[in-house]
Order: sequence, then C-alpha cells, then structure tokens
Amino acid sequence: MSEMQTIQWFPGHMTKTKRQIQASLKLVDAVAEIIDARIPVSSRNPDLNQLVLNKPRVILLNKCDMANQTATKMWIDHYAKQGITAIAVDCKSGKNLNKIPAAVNTVMKEKIDRLKAKGMVNPTIRMMIVGIPNVGKSSFINRIAKQNRAKVEDRPGVTRGNQWFTISKNLEMLDTPGVLWPRFDNKTVGEHLAFTGAVKDQVVDTELLAVRLLDFLKGLKPQAFIERFKLSDIDPDNTDSYELLQIIGKKRGMLVSGGEIDTERAAVMLLDEFRAAKLGRITLEMPGTVFEKE
Ligand code: G4P
Repeated sequence: MSEMQTIQWFPGHMTKTKRQIQASLKLVDAVAEIIDARIPVSSRNPDLNQLVLNKPRVILLNKCDMANQTATKMWIDHYAKQGITAIAVDCKSGKNLNKIPAAVNTVMKEKIDRLKAKGMVNPTIRMMIVGIPNVGKSSFINRIAKQNRAKVEDRPGVTRGNQWFTISKNLEMLDTPGVLWPRFDNKTVGEHLAFTGAVKDQVVDTELLAVRLLDFLKGLKPQAFIERFKLSDIDPDNTDSYELLQIIGKKRGMLVSGGEIDTERAAVMLLDEFRAAKLGRITLEMPGTVFEKE
C-alpha cells in the first residue's frame, strides 16, 4: 500500500496540501487531473476548480480497463460538450498514454500560439498531475518515468528537488503529483470510493460494505454477481443482501467450524473480486449523476 493511501484528511492537512499544490502550480502551464473511470463523480476533488483557477486542464479517466467501455465513451462526450478534453487511459498497460501530448497541445493552443508569435520555436509546456488517493497518480508517473529515463535537469527558478520527466518533445511533467482529498459530505460518494478501494477498509465495516455493494449491484447489474457466483436459481429482487452474501460464501466453501458461513471472509473476497473487475467492467456513475450535500 502506498503512503498516500493512508493519509487521513483533516483541515490542517488540507491547508498544507493546498499550499503545496499552489506552489507547484506556479511551475506549470497545465494540469492533468486523474480520476477513476468507474466513478468519475466521486473520484473528483470538490475544490479543484477553485484551486487551479484558469489553468488549462485535461481529465485522464484512468483504470478504463475496469470501466464499462460505453459508459467511458459517454463520459468523454459529456466532458467534450462542456469544452473539457478527457482521455480514457490505463496506467497498468499504458493504453492511450501516447494521446496525452496532443490533448495538452489542444488545451494549451492559445498560449502556444502566443509564444510562437513572439518568436519562440517549439515552446516547452510543463504540466503536473493531480488527483485523490488511489486513482493511479504514482502508476502514471512511474510509467512515464520508465519510458523516459533521462530526466530533465533542474533549472534555475525551479524549486530544488523537483524533477521533470519528458513526456514528448515539448511536454514535461513534474515528478511529484498533487494529492487531493475526496468529497466528505455525501454518503453515496463515500460508498463508491469504498467499493472501488479508493478508501481503505480499515475505515469501514467490511461486511456492511459488501452488503451495500450487493444492494447497489442489484439495482445496476445483478447479472454481475449471478454469473460470477453461479446464482441462476436465485431471484435477487427477493433475496436480502446479507442472505446473498451468505449464499456466496457457501458457494465458495467459506465455512467456520460448526458449519456456519464465514461472511467476513466472503465480504473480503467479494470486494476484492469487484475491485479487480472480476465481476465485469462496471461503471458506477453515469453522466448526469449529481450527489447533493447531506
Ligand atoms: P495513487 O498514486 O493515485 O495513490 O495510485 P496508485 O498509482 O498507487 O494506484 C492505486 C492502485 O490502482 C494500484 O493497485 C495500481 O496498480 C492500480 N492502478 C493504477 N492505474 C490502473 C489502471 O489503469 N488499471 C488498473 N486495473 N489498475 C490501476 P494496488 O493494488 O494498490 O497496487 P499493486 O498491486 O498494483 O501494486
């Protein structure tokens, strides 16, 4: 588990993070916001607009290998209608990472044109990565770093210790991502973050979370668990989700002495398999999803 995942957000920490990000923002021209393609609403930071103000931005819908392809296309169209450039990427395989330079060039067009008009040939654009914990920031940076072993030298005026990686000929990336906090004011957002593993299990009751996941899947896509756990003889609408968890545990032979079903183990297994997309490529939130404050 990376250190970032264990961060507990509290007001003092948020203020410090804000300051660090604001300092890094001064060094860059553009921002790449990484979100989880399965939960594009819940995995966005609520204060990002205010933080980056008018810096050009691209959205990277990461983990697209685990999201529903049609839903991801709908999200990209949805952002496009708002004038936002978004790309579906997969940092595990590296899919679509080569589309980033063109996307950054698009959002930076005005500035690049201005610099060119001033006589600058092929101006270099610098960007940074931001996102909430677990969306794949380190995976992204590691991938880029591996592909571009030669780091760019520290430059005058750039804080010592910062390193830059070349993504393409005229695009450089800061090696340190901005780690942002997720929303805290909505129970559904919290659940979606927990279902996908963005919030770790120490802070939530595993059995309860598994039951809530089954409740959610009953509404969205019951075939996902029916097929995975071979439950074709069960009517999901008329089966209580805790009972469903027991049936799943039994199917997998998860018994404790005395023949009782180990629902705790079944819950861990269900969540692990869901998070690894073994129940299929599932997008939990569609364009238009709005979670009110609670
Ligand atoms: P962070 O820096 O934003 O906190 O996220 P990080 O890169 O640590 O990624 C969090 C988890 O998500 C890691 O899994 C990572 O492998 C996985 N991940 C990142 N990008 C993708 C992607 O595009 N597709 C898929 N399927 N997974 C992705 P982990 O289980 O915590 O670590 P590990 O087992 O991979 O080491």
